[in-house]
Amino acid sequence: MLSPEQIKEKKTAGKKISMITAYDFAFAQMAENAGIDQILVGDSLANTMLGYKKTSDIGMEEMLIFVGAVCRGAPNTHVVADMPFLSDKDPQTAYDNARRFMDLGASSVKIEGNPVGVREFLISKGIPVCAHHGLLPQTAKDFHQKGKTEEEARNIVADAKASDNMGCFEIVLEHIPESLGTLITNQVSAATIGIGGGKFTDGQVLVMHDALGMHLGKNPPFATKFANIYDAAVEGFRKYIEAVNEKL
Ligand code: KIV
Repeated sequence: MLSPEQIKEKKTAGKKISMITAYDFAFAQMAENAGIDQILVGDSLANTMLGYKKTSDIGMEEMLIFVGAVCRGAPNTHVVADMPFLSDKDPQTAYDNARRFMDLGASSVKIEGNPVGVREFLISKGIPVCAHHGLLPQTAKDFHQKGKTEEEARNIVADAKASDNMGCFEIVLEHIPESLGTLITNQVSAATIGIGGGKFTDGQVLVMHDALGMHLGKNPPFATKFANIYDAAVEGFRKYIEAVNEKL
């Protein structure tokens, strides 16, 4: 299992870091078997697994079930647990919640945006923190690319540098121009993980349902489909139904 230090060493050595979301035991096992560097139990599971409209619709109690399942499925992989909306509303609340994820076997937690005093408090208590800047789905008003204006770009760079200076070992950069992803990657010691942040971040993350073709909806523009599980599963179900109707 890669430690936060080893993830930063990969950056220094110019080696890419692979991260994918996974939410359950079976897919965590498959991702570990494939040799993924890190699994993110993202709050995107609110949409992909539970059919909620927004990532902010999921809370701690539900997240804990999925983080536990992934840690059991991928015991040798660095699992990043996403802190759901308001679970990090102040430093002590964030610490109590992060501790619950770590006790289940998570290796680090991801914090979206800049909740005041939270990242540095968790780090001071020995909890490795992955920051998340650019598009912030928990609070976003729209899902357009961020950092296109000079002011927005300046703010994202400042946020990323602040996370780096606080000691975050890793920073997810979501849906920003490639030039901005590259600039931040070159200016921070934390490993940068892009999702729509261009080719030059230290690593990449995708939502599993986009990467494996597990839904009928359109992928975001930056998400390549590497398999077509949806069609394969429907085909398997049809064959099963046929077999049942023919009395096996
Ligand atoms: O919840 C999630 O899947 C995420 C990724 C989009 C980085 O935060």
